[in-house]
Amino acid sequence: MSVIKFRPKPQFDKSATILLLDQDIIKKKVFPGLAYPPLKNSLENLLKTQQFAGDKGEIFPIIFDGKIFLVAGLGKAQECTLRDIRIVVRKALLSVFLKTIKSVELIPHKNDDEVIKAIIEGIVIGSYVWEKYRSSNTDNERICKKDVCLVSVSKKIYEETITICQGVNYTRDLINDNADLITSDYFEKEVRKITKGIKNVAISILNEKELRAKGLNLHLAVNQGSNKKPKLIIIKYRGNPHQKRSIALVGKGLTFDSGGLNLKPSGSIETMRSDMSGAAALMGVLKNVINLKIKKNIIFAIGLAENAIGSKSYKPGDIIKSYNGLTVEIGNTDAEGRLVLADAISFVIKNYKPNQLIDIATLTGACTVALGYDYSGLMTPDQNFADKLLKISGETDDLIWQLPSYPELKDSIKSDIADLKNISNQRGAGGTITAAEFLRQFTENTPWAHLDIASTAFLEGKGRTYYGYGATGAGVRLLTHYLKNYQE
Ligand code: BES
Ligand code: ZN
Ligand code: ZN
Repeated sequence: MSVIKFRPKPQFDKSATILLLDQDIIKKKVFPGLAYPPLKNSLENLLKTQQFAGDKGEIFPIIFDGKIFLVAGLGKAQECTLRDIRIVVRKALLSVFLKTIKSVELIPHKNDDEVIKAIIEGIVIGSYVWEKYRSSNTDNERICKKDVCLVSVSKKIYEETITICQGVNYTRDLINDNADLITSDYFEKEVRKITKGIKNVAISILNEKELRAKGLNLHLAVNQGSNKKPKLIIIKYRGNPHQKRSIALVGKGLTFDSGGLNLKPSGSIETMRSDMSGAAALMGVLKNVINLKIKKNIIFAIGLAENAIGSKSYKPGDIIKSYNGLTVEIGNTDAEGRLVLADAISFVIKNYKPNQLIDIATLTGACTVALGYDYSGLMTPDQNFADKLLKISGETDDLIWQLPSYPELKDSIKSDIADLKNISNQRGAGGTITAAEFLRQFTENTPWAHLDIASTAFLEGKGRTYYGYGATGAGVRLLTHYLKNYQE
C-alpha cells in the first residue's frame, strides 16, 4: 500500500514525477510540467512530434537529468470518468518505468475535490498488491509501496478518503491470507485490537457453548465437521447516545467453504478462503466507523464458521431447527452461507431490535452468472432502501446492481418435510434471488437489504479495473459511506 503526503505546489524534486494530462489540457498547453524550465523543451517536443497523444491510459516516460517524468493520458476531458482516473493512476504507479522508484511526485490535471479523491483511491486501492508470500528475489520484484507526494492542499475530506481506503486494504489483507491463519479466533483477536480503548463499543461473543444454549443450530451444523470454533461476534457501537435508532450489519464469515459433503470440485474450491469476505468487509467498516467517529448506532454481527468435510460434517437430508424456530431441510451442504446468516439475522433482530439491517455475503455463484465481476447483487423488498444504496454505489464506485425480491419466490424454497429448504426447487434458475428469499424468512419485517458479493469480493488472474489479483474489499466503501450519510 502506498503512503500519501500532500504538498501544495509541484517541486520536481523526486526521482520520478507523474503528470496526469487530459487532451483538453494538452491542446491548451497550460499545465505545471511546462512551468518547470528543464522539462519545458522535452514536453513541447513530445507533443509537437505527437509521440504522446494523451489517449486514455497512454503512458510515456521522459528521462531527463537522471529523473523520470511519466506523462499519463486521460483522453478527452468530457469523456474521462472518475473510474478512468483511478485506473490510470494505478497503471502509472505500477508501470515498469517506476519499478525501482520509492518516492514519486504526482501532479493532478485538475484540482477538483472529486478528482483528488479518485486519485487518492487510485493510489491507495490501486497500488495494493498481495505479495506477503512472494520471495523478494522473484522476477517480478518491484516496489509497489511508494511514497506519493500528491500536489494538492491537504483537506479533511482527503484525509477521510485515505482512512476509508486503508480500511478497504485491511479487509483485503484478511481475505487474501490463508484460511488456516484467518480463523474465527483470529477475527476475535482483531476485533479486540480494533476496539481496544474505544469507550462507546461493547463486544459480545457467542462461542460454541452459547450458540448451543441459545439454539443457533443452523450455524452450529455448518461448523460441525471442522476443527475450528464457530463464533458469532457482535459489536455494539454507540456513535449517537441521544438516539434510539440503530442499524445492524451482518456478515458471512465462512473462513473456508469446502462445500461440505456436497464437496466443491477442483476449479471452484481453490479460492474459498475468500468466503469470509462479507465478515472481512465488516471489519474494514468497523475500523472506518471508529476512525471517522461516525455518529450512528451500529450493531456489527459477524457469523464465523468453517464448512469442512469429515465424519462429523452435517449431511444432505438433515433437518435442523433454526434460532427463530423454523425447521430447515438441508438440500445441499454447500448452501451453508444462508444457514449461518439466517441464525445471525434472527438473533440480531430478536436481541438488538435494529431499525434496519443489511447483510453482506459471498452467497451464490449464480450472482456471477447474473452480473459478472464488477457489480455486487443488491436485493431488498424495500425500494426506498434500494434507491439509497444505489445512489451511494454510484458515488463511491463500489458497484451494486439490483435484482428482484418478491414474496412469490417463497414457493421455490418449500420443503415437503420441513418449513424450508436451503436450496431452490427451481433447479438452475434464479439462484441468487432464491437465496435472498431464504434469508428474508428470518428478517421478521425489519427493513432489510442483502448484498451478494460472491463475484466481486475476490478476483482471480490479473484483476480488473483498478484492482489487482485477489480481494477487492467490495462493500467497505459502500457501507462506510452509507453509515456516514444516510438520513433516517
Ligand atoms: N460460497 C459459495 C458461493 C460462492 C461461489 C462464493 C463462488 C464465491 C465464489 C456458497 O456457499 C455456495 O457454495 N453456494 C452454492 C449454492 C448452491 C449449492 C445452491 C453455489 O453458488 O453453487
Ligand atoms: Zn457453499
Ligand atoms: Zn459459502
